[in-house]
Amino acid sequence: MSVMRDNRRNFLKKTLYGGLALGVTGYAGLAQGANNLIKTNEAPDSVPVNRPGKGKSVMGLRCEPLSEVRIAVIGLGRGAGAVERMLHIEGAKIVALCDLQENRLKGNQERLKKAGHPEAVVYSGEEDWKKVCERDDIDLIYNATPWHLHVPVAVYAMKHGKHVVVEVPAAMTIDDCWALVDTAEETQRHCMMLENCCYDFFELATLNMARKGLFGEVYHGEGAYIHDLREYKHNKTGYYKMWRLEYSKKHTGNPYPTHGLGPVAQIMGINRGDRFDYLTSTSSNQYGLTLYAENTFGKDSPEAKATYKLGDMNQTVIRTVNGHTIVVVHDTTSPRPYDRIHKISGTKGYAVKYPDERIALEPNAHEFLKPEEFKELMKQYEHPLSKYIGEKAKSVGGHGGMDYIMDWRLIYCLRNGLPLDQDVYDAAAWSCIAELSERSVLNRSNSVDVPDFTRGEWKNAKPWPVIDMETVFS
Ligand SMILES: NC(=O)c1ccc[n+]([C@@H]2O[C@H](COP(=O)([O-])OP(=O)(O)OC[C@H]3O[C@@H](n4cnc5c(N)ncnc54)[C@H](O)[C@@H]3O)[C@@H](O)[C@H]2O)c1
Repeated sequence: MSVMRDNRRNFLKKTLYGGLALGVTGYAGLAQGANNLIKTNEAPDSVPVNRPGKGKSVMGLRCEPLSEVRIAVIGLGRGAGAVERMLHIEGAKIVALCDLQENRLKGNQERLKKAGHPEAVVYSGEEDWKKVCERDDIDLIYNATPWHLHVPVAVYAMKHGKHVVVEVPAAMTIDDCWALVDTAEETQRHCMMLENCCYDFFELATLNMARKGLFGEVYHGEGAYIHDLREYKHNKTGYYKMWRLEYSKKHTGNPYPTHGLGPVAQIMGINRGDRFDYLTSTSSNQYGLTLYAENTFGKDSPEAKATYKLGDMNQTVIRTVNGHTIVVVHDTTSPRPYDRIHKISGTKGYAVKYPDERIALEPNAHEFLKPEEFKELMKQYEHPLSKYIGEKAKSVGGHGGMDYIMDWRLIYCLRNGLPLDQDVYDAAAWSCIAELSERSVLNRSNSVDVPDFTRGEWKNAKPWPVIDMETVFS
C-alpha cells in the first residue's frame, strides 16, 4: 500500500470513525448497517464496489399481476397523503394503517370512512410494523416512516412476501443499500423508492425529450434539494421526535440527495447503460440552524449551543463510467427560495427548471426558446403519463400532482405485472450518496468510489419502462 493510501487510511480512522464516534448512539440507532461503520477497527479506504449476492438479479423484475393491490401504510405524516391519493386510484385498497400517534390513525380512518371505504385495521405499537408485514392479506407495504426505519421495515416486508415502496432516501448507509438489494434479489419482490420528483411534469417532459434525442448526448446534469427547513427542523411538534434535527447534529454531507438526482439519473441512463463511478463532495460550515435557534430560543438556549454537523451548503460531483457528470446540491438551512435545479446539458441542447422552466436548442442554443416556442415544444413532448393522468393528478394533488402520477403508475404496474419505473438498484444508487458524500466531506473532498449495486447488470439493462409508450397504456 502506498504512503498516500496509508495516510488516507489513518486520516479516515481519526476523522470519520473517531468523529462519528461522538455520535455513536445516534448513528447506530439511525440505521441498521451503520454499526459496521463504527465498530470496524480497520477502517477501509473506501467502500467495496461490488459484493457477492445470494439471489437472482431483479433488473426488469415482473411479478404476478394483482387484480387489486391491498396496501398497508406505515408512518402517517407523509403517508397520510398516500392514503388520500390511493382513494382515487382504481384497484388500490387500504387494508391497514400503522403509526404511533393515535390522532394520525384516527384522522386517516376518518378519511377512509368519509370516502365510503371500509375501515382499515390499525396498529399503534413501536414494533407493530412487524405484525403488519406478517399479515397474509396485504400485497404492498407503503413505508413512510422516519429514515432510521426505512430499511428494517422494507427488509422485513420483503422477507414476508410483500412488495415494498420506501420514502426517500431509501437508505442512509451503504450497508443498508446492500441490504435492500440483497433482500429484493433473495425474495424476488419489488422494492421501489418513492422518488416523486421523477414524475413532475417538466422532469417527465425532459425525460421524453432526452429519449427522443432532442438534447443529443446528455453528458451533464444538475439537481438539488434546496428547501429552507430551519423552522420545521426546530419545531418540537413537527417531525416525530425531531428526527431530522437529530440527524443534522450527527452527520454532514448530503443526507437527502434523491429529489434532484433521481430525474437526472433516469435521463442519463444510470444503471441502464451507465453507472456512477466515483464522487467528490464538499460542505460549507453550518450557520442556519444555530442562527435560527439564537433568534428563536435565545443565545443561551440548548438549541443555540448544540453542535450541528450538517454543513449548510453541500455540493457533490459524481462522475459516471461513461465520462458524464452530475452535480447534486443540498441546502435545507439557508434563507433562499425552493430549488431543485434540474439542469440537463447535452451536445445539442439544454434545459433548466428553476427558477423558470427554460430550454435552449441548437442551432440557436445561445438563447432560450421564446415563450411561444417553448410552449409548443412542451406540448409536442409532453410525456404520455402526464398526458394521460396529468389533469386528474392536478385535481387530486400532492406536490402539484406528481405524487398522484407516481402512485397511479405504481398501482398500474403492479396490477399489470410490469417492471416498476424505479427499481431497488436505483433506490440504492441514488440513496448511497448520503454516506459517500459524508465520507468525502470528512476526507477533504477526496473522491470515493460508488458501489455497483447491479453487479454488472447495468451494462445490458434496457431503458426503464416509463418512457416505453406501450407499457403505459397496454
Ligand atoms: N417524497 C417527498 O416529497 C417527501 C416529503 C416529506 C417527507 N418525505 C419522507 O417521508 C418520510 C417521513 O417523513 P415525514 O415528514 O412524514 O415525518 P413525520 O415525522 O412527520 O412522520 C413520520 C411518522 O412515522 C411515525 N412513526 C415513527 N416511528 C414509528 C414506528 N415505530 N411505527 C409506526 N410509525 C412510526 C410517526 O409517528 C410519524 O407519524 C421520510 O423518509 C421523509 O424523508 C418525503
